[in-house]
Amino acid sequence: VAPTIAAPARRRVPFGGAIQAEHFDVDPEYRKAFLTYCDLIMPMNELKFDLLRPSPDVFSFEPADRIVDFALSHGKGSRGHCFLWWGGTPDWVKAITDPKRLEAVLIEHIETVADHYAGRLTSWDVVNEVIANDPPQEGALRDTHWLRVLGPRHIPLAFLTAAKADPKARLVINDYDLEYVGPRCDARRATMLAMVRQLKDAGVPVHAVGMQGHLYADLQIDHDAIAAFGAALKAIDVGLIVSELDIIDWHIEGGPAEQDAAAGKAVNALLDAVFAGQQPEAVIAWGLTDRYSWVGGAMPRPDGTPVRPLPLDEHYRRKAWFGPLLDRLKHG
Ligand code: G3I
Repeated sequence: VAPTIAAPARRRVPFGGAIQAEHFDVDPEYRKAFLTYCDLIMPMNELKFDLLRPSPDVFSFEPADRIVDFALSHGKGSRGHCFLWWGGTPDWVKAITDPKRLEAVLIEHIETVADHYAGRLTSWDVVNEVIANDPPQEGALRDTHWLRVLGPRHIPLAFLTAAKADPKARLVINDYDLEYVGPRCDARRATMLAMVRQLKDAGVPVHAVGMQGHLYADLQIDHDAIAAFGAALKAIDVGLIVSELDIIDWHIEGGPAEQDAAAGKAVNALLDAVFAGQQPEAVIAWGLTDRYSWVGGAMPRPDGTPVRPLPLDEHYRRKAWFGPLLDRLKHG
Protein backbone atom coordinates (compact mmCIF):
# COMPACT_ATOMS: atom_id res chain seq x y z
CA VAL A 1 0.00 0.00 0.00
CA ALA A 2 1.40 3.39 -0.98
CA PRO A 3 2.05 5.70 1.96
CA THR A 4 -0.21 8.72 2.39
CA ILE A 5 0.36 12.31 3.39
CA ALA A 6 -0.46 12.54 7.11
CA ALA A 7 -4.10 13.53 7.41
CA PRO A 8 -4.83 16.17 10.04
CA ALA A 9 -7.70 15.72 12.43
CA ARG A 10 -9.08 19.12 11.56
CA ARG A 11 -9.60 18.80 7.82
CA ARG A 12 -10.31 15.89 5.55
CA VAL A 13 -7.99 17.39 2.93
CA PRO A 14 -4.91 19.04 4.51
CA PHE A 15 -4.32 22.70 3.73
CA GLY A 16 -0.66 23.58 3.45
CA GLY A 17 1.58 26.55 2.96
CA ALA A 18 5.11 26.93 1.64
CA ILE A 19 7.28 29.03 3.92
CA GLN A 20 10.52 30.95 3.24
CA ALA A 21 13.35 30.87 5.76
CA GLU A 22 14.28 34.53 5.33
CA HIS A 23 10.82 35.72 6.45
CA PHE A 24 10.37 32.92 8.96
CA ASP A 25 13.44 34.22 10.79
CA VAL A 26 12.35 37.84 11.17
CA ASP A 27 8.55 38.04 11.02
CA PRO A 28 6.73 36.46 13.99
CA GLU A 29 3.34 37.24 12.45
CA TYR A 30 4.34 35.19 9.43
CA ARG A 31 5.20 32.18 11.59
CA LYS A 32 1.96 32.57 13.50
CA ALA A 33 -0.12 32.68 10.33
CA PHE A 34 1.27 29.33 9.18
CA LEU A 35 0.48 27.80 12.58
CA THR A 36 -3.01 29.27 12.54
CA TYR A 37 -4.09 28.08 9.13
CA CYS A 38 -1.92 25.23 7.91
CA ASP A 39 -1.97 21.49 8.51
CA LEU A 40 1.20 21.15 6.51
CA ILE A 41 4.13 23.58 6.43
CA MET A 42 6.88 23.06 3.89
CA PRO A 43 10.11 24.82 2.86
CA MET A 44 9.50 26.75 -0.36
CA ASN A 45 13.09 27.04 -1.60
CA GLU A 46 15.47 25.68 1.02
CA LEU A 47 15.50 22.09 -0.29
CA LYS A 48 16.22 23.04 -3.88
CA PHE A 49 19.48 21.57 -5.15
CA ASP A 50 21.26 24.93 -5.53
CA LEU A 51 20.42 26.29 -2.08
CA LEU A 52 20.84 22.98 -0.30
CA ARG A 53 24.06 22.04 -2.01
CA PRO A 54 25.99 25.06 -3.24
CA SER A 55 29.10 22.92 -3.76
CA PRO A 56 29.64 19.15 -4.04
CA ASP A 57 30.70 18.62 -0.44
CA VAL A 58 28.35 21.04 1.29
CA PHE A 59 24.85 20.03 2.28
CA SER A 60 23.35 23.03 4.06
CA PHE A 61 20.40 21.36 5.70
CA GLU A 62 20.07 23.91 8.46
CA PRO A 63 17.51 26.38 6.97
CA ALA A 64 15.18 23.60 5.84
CA ASP A 65 15.69 21.74 9.11
CA ARG A 66 14.52 24.76 11.06
CA ILE A 67 11.31 24.93 9.03
CA VAL A 68 10.66 21.20 9.17
CA ASP A 69 11.33 21.10 12.93
CA PHE A 70 8.99 24.07 13.39
CA ALA A 71 6.25 22.26 11.48
CA LEU A 72 6.64 18.91 13.22
CA SER A 73 7.07 20.33 16.71
CA HIS A 74 3.69 22.01 16.27
CA GLY A 75 2.02 18.83 15.11
CA LYS A 76 1.98 19.80 11.45
CA GLY A 77 3.01 17.73 8.46
CA SER A 78 5.68 18.72 5.98
CA ARG A 79 6.89 17.71 2.54
CA GLY A 80 9.92 18.07 0.33
CA HIS A 81 10.34 20.33 -2.72
CA CYS A 82 12.30 19.14 -4.67
CA PHE A 83 15.10 16.75 -5.70
CA LEU A 84 15.51 17.67 -9.37
CA TRP A 85 14.45 20.91 -11.07
CA TRP A 86 15.82 22.73 -14.09
CA GLY A 87 15.53 25.99 -12.14
CA GLY A 88 17.54 24.88 -9.15
CA THR A 89 20.48 23.15 -10.78
CA PRO A 90 23.75 24.62 -9.47
CA ASP A 91 26.56 25.50 -11.87
CA TRP A 92 28.83 22.80 -10.51
CA VAL A 93 26.23 20.20 -11.54
CA LYS A 94 25.77 21.84 -14.95
CA ALA A 95 29.51 21.49 -15.48
CA ILE A 96 29.26 17.67 -15.28
CA THR A 97 28.80 16.29 -18.78
CA ASP A 98 29.93 12.72 -18.23
CA PRO A 99 26.76 10.58 -17.86
CA LYS A 100 28.33 8.20 -15.36
CA ARG A 101 29.44 11.05 -13.11
CA LEU A 102 26.13 12.87 -13.35
CA GLU A 103 24.22 9.69 -12.57
CA ALA A 104 26.41 9.19 -9.50
CA VAL A 105 25.68 12.77 -8.38
CA LEU A 106 21.94 12.28 -8.85
CA ILE A 107 21.95 9.09 -6.82
CA GLU A 108 24.19 10.46 -4.08
CA HIS A 109 22.10 13.64 -3.81
CA ILE A 110 18.74 11.93 -3.56
CA GLU A 111 20.02 9.24 -1.20
CA THR A 112 21.64 11.74 1.15
CA VAL A 113 18.73 14.18 1.24
CA ALA A 114 15.96 11.55 1.40
CA ASP A 115 17.84 9.79 4.17
CA HIS A 116 18.31 13.01 6.14
CA TYR A 117 14.54 13.64 6.12
CA ALA A 118 13.21 10.06 6.21
CA GLY A 119 10.31 9.90 8.65
CA ARG A 120 10.04 13.70 8.81
CA LEU A 121 9.12 14.60 5.24
CA THR A 122 6.39 12.17 4.26
CA SER A 123 6.28 13.17 0.61
CA TRP A 124 8.68 14.52 -2.02
CA ASP A 125 8.48 16.31 -5.34
CA VAL A 126 10.96 13.97 -6.99
CA VAL A 127 11.12 15.76 -10.32
CA ASN A 128 9.75 19.25 -10.86
CA GLU A 129 8.71 20.69 -14.24
CA VAL A 130 10.11 18.06 -16.61
CA ILE A 131 7.46 18.63 -19.30
CA ALA A 132 8.37 20.95 -22.19
CA ASN A 133 6.96 24.44 -21.57
CA ASP A 134 5.07 24.38 -24.85
CA PRO A 135 5.19 20.77 -26.02
CA PRO A 136 5.47 20.76 -29.81
CA GLN A 137 3.84 17.38 -29.59
CA GLU A 138 2.57 15.18 -26.80
CA GLY A 139 5.39 13.59 -24.86
CA ALA A 140 7.99 16.32 -25.22
CA LEU A 141 10.20 16.91 -22.22
CA ARG A 142 11.87 20.14 -21.16
CA ASP A 143 15.44 20.62 -22.32
CA THR A 144 17.34 20.42 -19.04
CA HIS A 145 20.87 19.49 -18.09
CA TRP A 146 19.59 16.20 -16.65
CA LEU A 147 17.81 15.36 -19.91
CA ARG A 148 20.71 16.38 -22.12
CA VAL A 149 23.28 14.29 -20.27
CA LEU A 150 21.24 11.35 -18.97
CA GLY A 151 18.20 11.29 -21.27
CA PRO A 152 14.63 10.60 -20.09
CA ARG A 153 15.89 7.74 -17.92
CA HIS A 154 16.89 10.27 -15.27
CA ILE A 155 13.20 10.44 -14.33
CA PRO A 156 12.67 6.75 -13.39
CA LEU A 157 16.17 6.75 -11.91
CA ALA A 158 15.22 9.61 -9.58
CA PHE A 159 12.02 7.89 -8.47
CA LEU A 160 13.67 4.51 -7.93
CA THR A 161 16.51 6.09 -5.96
CA ALA A 162 14.07 8.04 -3.78
CA ALA A 163 11.94 4.94 -3.15
CA LYS A 164 14.99 2.98 -2.10
CA ALA A 165 16.29 5.73 0.16
CA ASP A 166 12.95 6.37 1.86
CA PRO A 167 10.49 3.55 1.13
CA LYS A 168 7.78 5.26 3.20
CA ALA A 169 7.79 8.59 1.35
CA ARG A 170 5.02 9.47 -1.06
CA LEU A 171 6.67 10.27 -4.38
CA VAL A 172 5.27 13.05 -6.55
CA ILE A 173 5.81 14.36 -10.07
CA ASN A 174 5.10 18.09 -10.06
CA ASP A 175 4.32 20.48 -12.92
CA TYR A 176 2.58 23.72 -13.94
CA ASP A 177 0.08 24.84 -16.60
CA LEU A 178 -2.03 21.74 -16.38
CA GLU A 179 -5.09 23.82 -15.51
CA TYR A 180 -6.45 25.76 -18.50
CA VAL A 181 -8.47 25.44 -21.68
CA GLY A 182 -6.50 25.17 -24.90
CA PRO A 183 -4.16 23.00 -26.94
CA ARG A 184 -1.03 23.84 -24.94
CA CYS A 185 -2.49 22.64 -21.63
CA ASP A 186 -4.14 19.71 -23.43
CA ALA A 187 -0.70 18.64 -24.61
CA ARG A 188 0.83 19.16 -21.18
CA ARG A 189 -1.90 17.13 -19.44
CA ALA A 190 -1.66 14.35 -22.03
CA THR A 191 2.12 14.28 -21.64
CA MET A 192 1.87 14.04 -17.86
CA LEU A 193 -0.71 11.26 -18.00
CA ALA A 194 1.25 9.26 -20.57
CA MET A 195 4.46 9.67 -18.57
CA VAL A 196 2.84 8.54 -15.31
CA ARG A 197 1.26 5.54 -17.03
CA GLN A 198 4.57 4.60 -18.58
CA LEU A 199 6.40 4.89 -15.27
CA LYS A 200 3.78 2.81 -13.46
CA ASP A 201 3.82 0.18 -16.20
CA ALA A 202 7.57 -0.09 -15.77
CA GLY A 203 7.14 -0.65 -12.04
CA VAL A 204 8.43 2.80 -11.05
CA PRO A 205 6.75 4.09 -7.87
CA VAL A 206 4.91 7.34 -8.65
CA HIS A 207 2.28 8.00 -6.01
CA ALA A 208 0.83 11.36 -6.99
CA VAL A 209 0.88 14.22 -9.48
CA GLY A 210 1.41 17.73 -8.17
CA MET A 211 -0.70 20.22 -10.12
CA GLN A 212 0.98 23.46 -9.14
CA GLY A 213 -2.05 25.73 -9.43
CA HIS A 214 -0.31 29.00 -10.23
CA LEU A 215 -3.62 30.32 -11.52
CA TYR A 216 -3.80 33.06 -14.13
CA ALA A 217 -7.02 34.75 -13.08
CA ASP A 218 -7.81 35.75 -16.66
CA LEU A 219 -7.54 32.24 -18.12
CA GLN A 220 -10.33 29.72 -18.17
CA ILE A 221 -9.89 26.64 -16.00
CA ASP A 222 -10.66 23.51 -18.04
CA HIS A 223 -13.16 21.84 -15.72
CA ASP A 224 -13.84 18.76 -17.83
CA ALA A 225 -10.24 18.13 -18.77
CA ILE A 226 -9.03 18.42 -15.16
CA ALA A 227 -11.84 16.17 -13.95
CA ALA A 228 -10.95 13.58 -16.59
CA PHE A 229 -7.24 13.92 -15.75
CA GLY A 230 -7.90 13.37 -12.03
CA ALA A 231 -10.19 10.41 -12.73
CA ALA A 232 -7.64 8.82 -15.08
CA LEU A 233 -4.97 9.14 -12.40
CA LYS A 234 -7.31 7.68 -9.81
CA ALA A 235 -7.97 4.70 -12.07
CA ILE A 236 -4.27 3.84 -11.93
CA ASP A 237 -4.09 4.56 -8.22
CA VAL A 238 -2.22 7.86 -8.52
CA GLY A 239 -3.23 10.79 -6.31
CA LEU A 240 -3.44 14.49 -7.08
CA ILE A 241 -2.09 17.40 -5.01
CA VAL A 242 -2.70 21.09 -5.63
CA SER A 243 0.89 21.85 -4.81
CA GLU A 244 1.68 25.57 -5.31
CA LEU A 245 -1.59 27.49 -5.27
CA ASP A 246 -1.57 31.24 -5.87
CA ILE A 247 -3.28 33.67 -8.25
CA ILE A 248 -1.60 35.73 -10.94
CA ASP A 249 -3.83 38.79 -11.28
CA TRP A 250 -1.76 40.97 -13.61
CA HIS A 251 -4.53 41.30 -16.21
CA ILE A 252 -7.37 41.91 -13.79
CA GLU A 253 -8.47 45.53 -14.10
CA GLY A 254 -10.02 47.59 -11.32
CA GLY A 255 -8.65 47.37 -7.82
CA PRO A 256 -8.30 45.02 -4.88
CA ALA A 257 -12.00 44.10 -4.87
CA GLU A 258 -11.89 43.01 -8.52
CA GLN A 259 -8.58 41.18 -8.01
CA ASP A 260 -9.96 39.26 -5.03
CA ALA A 261 -13.22 38.44 -6.78
CA ALA A 262 -11.30 37.08 -9.77
CA ALA A 263 -8.97 35.12 -7.48
CA GLY A 264 -11.90 33.57 -5.60
CA LYS A 265 -13.52 32.58 -8.86
CA ALA A 266 -10.33 30.96 -10.15
CA VAL A 267 -9.72 29.04 -6.92
CA ASN A 268 -13.31 27.78 -6.85
CA ALA A 269 -13.18 26.70 -10.47
CA LEU A 270 -9.94 24.81 -9.88
CA LEU A 271 -11.25 23.03 -6.79
CA ASP A 272 -14.55 22.14 -8.50
CA ALA A 273 -12.58 20.55 -11.32
CA VAL A 274 -10.07 18.77 -9.09
CA PHE A 275 -12.72 17.35 -6.75
CA ALA A 276 -14.76 16.20 -9.77
CA GLY A 277 -11.85 13.91 -10.70
CA GLN A 278 -10.67 12.77 -7.28
CA GLN A 279 -10.32 14.12 -3.76
CA PRO A 280 -6.94 15.86 -3.66
CA GLU A 281 -4.36 14.68 -1.13
CA ALA A 282 -3.62 18.25 -0.09
CA VAL A 283 -4.06 21.83 -1.25
CA ILE A 284 -0.91 23.85 -0.66
CA ALA A 285 -0.58 27.61 -1.08
CA TRP A 286 2.75 28.94 -2.39
CA GLY A 287 3.21 31.30 0.53
CA LEU A 288 0.36 32.57 2.66
CA THR A 289 0.44 36.36 2.62
CA ASP A 290 0.65 38.95 -0.16
CA ARG A 291 3.46 40.51 1.87
CA TYR A 292 5.82 37.94 0.33
CA SER A 293 5.23 36.31 -3.03
CA TRP A 294 7.21 35.59 -6.18
CA VAL A 295 4.24 36.84 -8.27
CA GLY A 296 4.87 40.55 -7.71
CA GLY A 297 8.44 40.25 -8.96
CA ALA A 298 7.81 37.91 -11.86
CA MET A 299 4.40 39.16 -13.01
CA PRO A 300 3.79 42.70 -11.80
CA ARG A 301 0.55 44.49 -12.62
CA PRO A 302 0.89 46.93 -15.52
CA ASP A 303 -0.49 49.81 -13.42
CA GLY A 304 2.07 49.19 -10.68
CA THR A 305 -0.51 48.41 -7.98
CA PRO A 306 0.25 45.44 -5.71
CA VAL A 307 -0.57 41.87 -6.75
CA ARG A 308 -2.92 39.93 -4.44
CA PRO A 309 -2.01 36.27 -5.05
CA LEU A 310 -2.42 34.65 -1.64
CA PRO A 311 -5.12 33.82 0.95
CA LEU A 312 -4.01 36.56 3.39
CA ASP A 313 -3.38 40.17 2.39
CA GLU A 314 -0.19 42.02 3.28
CA HIS A 315 -1.59 42.79 6.76
CA TYR A 316 -2.48 39.14 7.35
CA ARG A 317 -6.20 39.75 6.89
CA ARG A 318 -8.13 36.88 5.35
CA LYS A 319 -9.41 37.32 1.83
CA ALA A 320 -13.12 36.58 1.44
CA TRP A 321 -12.31 33.45 -0.58
CA PHE A 322 -10.09 31.84 2.05
CA GLY A 323 -12.81 30.78 4.54
CA PRO A 324 -14.86 28.89 1.93
CA LEU A 325 -11.67 27.20 0.70
CA LEU A 326 -10.85 25.94 4.21
CA ASP A 327 -14.47 24.83 4.71
CA ARG A 328 -14.38 22.85 1.56
CA LEU A 329 -11.20 21.06 2.61
CA LYS A 330 -12.67 20.37 6.02
CA HIS A 331 -15.54 18.40 4.58
CA GLY A 332 -13.72 16.94 1.57
O1 G3I B 1 18.44 32.75 -0.38
C1 G3I B 1 18.67 34.06 -0.90
C2 G3I B 1 18.89 35.03 0.23
O2 G3I B 1 20.05 34.64 0.93
C3 G3I B 1 19.00 36.45 -0.33
O3 G3I B 1 19.05 37.34 0.72
C4 G3I B 1 17.80 36.77 -1.20
C5 G3I B 1 17.90 38.14 -1.84
O4 G3I B 1 17.19 38.19 -3.05
O5 G3I B 1 17.67 35.80 -2.22
C6 G3I B 1 17.47 34.51 -1.70
O6 G3I B 1 17.24 33.59 -2.74
C7 G3I B 1 15.97 33.69 -3.40
C8 G3I B 1 15.14 32.49 -3.07
O7 G3I B 1 13.93 32.61 -3.79
C9 G3I B 1 14.85 32.32 -1.57
O8 G3I B 1 13.77 33.07 -1.17
C10 G3I B 1 16.23 33.79 -4.88
O9 G3I B 1 16.90 34.98 -5.20
C11 G3I B 1 14.91 33.72 -5.64
O10 G3I B 1 15.18 33.58 -7.02
C12 G3I B 1 14.11 32.54 -5.17
O11 G3I B 1 12.88 32.55 -5.90
C13 G3I B 1 12.08 31.38 -5.81
C14 G3I B 1 12.00 30.70 -7.18
O12 G3I B 1 11.11 29.60 -7.13
C15 G3I B 1 13.37 30.22 -7.64
O13 G3I B 1 13.87 29.23 -6.76
C16 G3I B 1 10.70 31.81 -5.35
O14 G3I B 1 10.79 32.29 -4.01
C17 G3I B 1 9.74 30.60 -5.40
O15 G3I B 1 8.43 31.01 -5.11
C18 G3I B 1 9.78 29.96 -6.78
O16 G3I B 1 8.98 28.79 -6.73
C19 G3I B 1 8.75 28.09 -7.95
C20 G3I B 1 8.66 26.60 -7.62
O17 G3I B 1 9.83 26.16 -6.96
C21 G3I B 1 8.40 25.75 -8.85
N1 G3I B 1 7.20 26.22 -9.52
C22 G3I B 1 7.19 27.65 -9.86
C23 G3I B 1 7.41 28.49 -8.61
C24 G3I B 1 7.33 29.98 -8.93
O18 G3I B 1 8.37 30.39 -9.77
